Amino acid sequence: MTNSTTSAPHWSNRLAFIMAATGSAVGLGNIWKFPFITGEYGGGAFVMVYLVCIALIGIPLMMAEILIGRRGASSPSLSFKRVAEESGATGAWSFAGTFGVLASFLILTFYSVVGGWAIAYLWHAFQGAFDGSTVKTIGDLFSQLLASPVEMAGWHAAFMALSMGVVGFGVHSGIERAVTVLMPAMFVLLIILVIYAFTTGAAGASLDFLFTPNFSRLTTTGVLVALGHAFFTLSLGMSNMVAYGSYLPRHISITGASITVSILDTVVALMAGIAIFSVVFAHGMQPSMGPGLVFKTLPLAFGNMTGGYLIGIAFFFMLVFAAWSSAISLSEAVVARLIAVYRIPRPKAALLTGLVAWAVGLLSVLSFNKLANFKLIPGKNIFDSLDFLTTNIMLPMTGLMVALFVGWIMKKEYSRDELEAGPTLHKLWITCVRYITPILVLVVFAYNLYTSLLPKS
Ligand code: PHE
Repeated sequence: MTNSTTSAPHWSNRLAFIMAATGSAVGLGNIWKFPFITGEYGGGAFVMVYLVCIALIGIPLMMAEILIGRRGASSPSLSFKRVAEESGATGAWSFAGTFGVLASFLILTFYSVVGGWAIAYLWHAFQGAFDGSTVKTIGDLFSQLLASPVEMAGWHAAFMALSMGVVGFGVHSGIERAVTVLMPAMFVLLIILVIYAFTTGAAGASLDFLFTPNFSRLTTTGVLVALGHAFFTLSLGMSNMVAYGSYLPRHISITGASITVSILDTVVALMAGIAIFSVVFAHGMQPSMGPGLVFKTLPLAFGNMTGGYLIGIAFFFMLVFAAWSSAISLSEAVVARLIAVYRIPRPKAALLTGLVAWAVGLLSVLSFNKLANFKLIPGKNIFDSLDFLTTNIMLPMTGLMVALFVGWIMKKEYSRDELEAGPTLHKLWITCVRYITPILVLVVFAYNLYTSLLPKS
């Protein structure tokens, strides 16, 4: 991002914006979360619902968030307020921005724990811990990590320190430059893993699992999880894209950028899925092994493939990096808010955010061992509960507000002007944000709330 002669910073070009938004979107959500929820919710039919959600809810909402940011040209809350007032509505809409900050903070607390796992695995990869591994040794490696709160808290601290270091000292431009190199590198690495998948003899089974919809395996909860994940993976519902949109120069097309970022994000998730499920089926494992899936499968591939030592190191390095660039955008929302509201200097605000988020994250750490039996939401430990509460309740709730706001409150001529869309495209978009998104999101929200109150059978 460059500081132009005008007061507000701007992305230097279209590619810089696409890279930054992709850096935020592509993260643990794609490589860790998408495969494991796909495994848990039965494969193909789940993937199909997820793809429909990306297309019908994700892309229109990403466009909405970016356009609010660009039109408001300010912090998320203030952008909402300005855009509302411009259309003659109450400035209280700024609440949508504030609510997103709370969601960002809560997600950061457990995101950093998983980011810590990724660093731990980078360390294992360096030590050659995957060499000649079997399903059992790789499974044990992960169980040992989960069983040790001290070790996990340490990696969690390391990950949090990395993120806060960048946010606190504002070396943003460095990260942006790194993203430009490392994201394409990650892509190449995933291609290598997909090619490897075809040598395992189970690529067919993996493709079949991912892309042949078997609707008898799809549950109502699965539909809701797919919807929530569309928000999570595209970094929506946290005003993250509102902030990014505020730095977007006018000549860049919001529609084109949103579609590009969404496609890149989806392709990364699907490639990770193909690679991971090939290993699952080649070794007779179960797809539904939960949050440990990526950590119990790919190391097995690295341990048994030519050049696996280096590829393993490179992969976990990229995973840490992808998680890091996402965590930075999660933390930036909180830190920027603290600076704006309490006028604390940036390094202090970052330290404070990091410490509190780390401490709250310890509850997630403990939920895998000492507090494993403590259920916050019936049937879910603290880690799962926080994930559920944020992804499936808070994000859709903000998404709903955003959709209603751009669909019904913001004057149509303003959104048309901002999107620079032809009548057909604008009509299509407005139909999505006015009707499709709110109706679907309301269903997600209502149902999630309902099931969260019911004890799990
Ligand atoms: N989209 C990121 C992922 O898939 C998570 C994230 C959400 C990052 C919101 C920033 C803001 O991992």
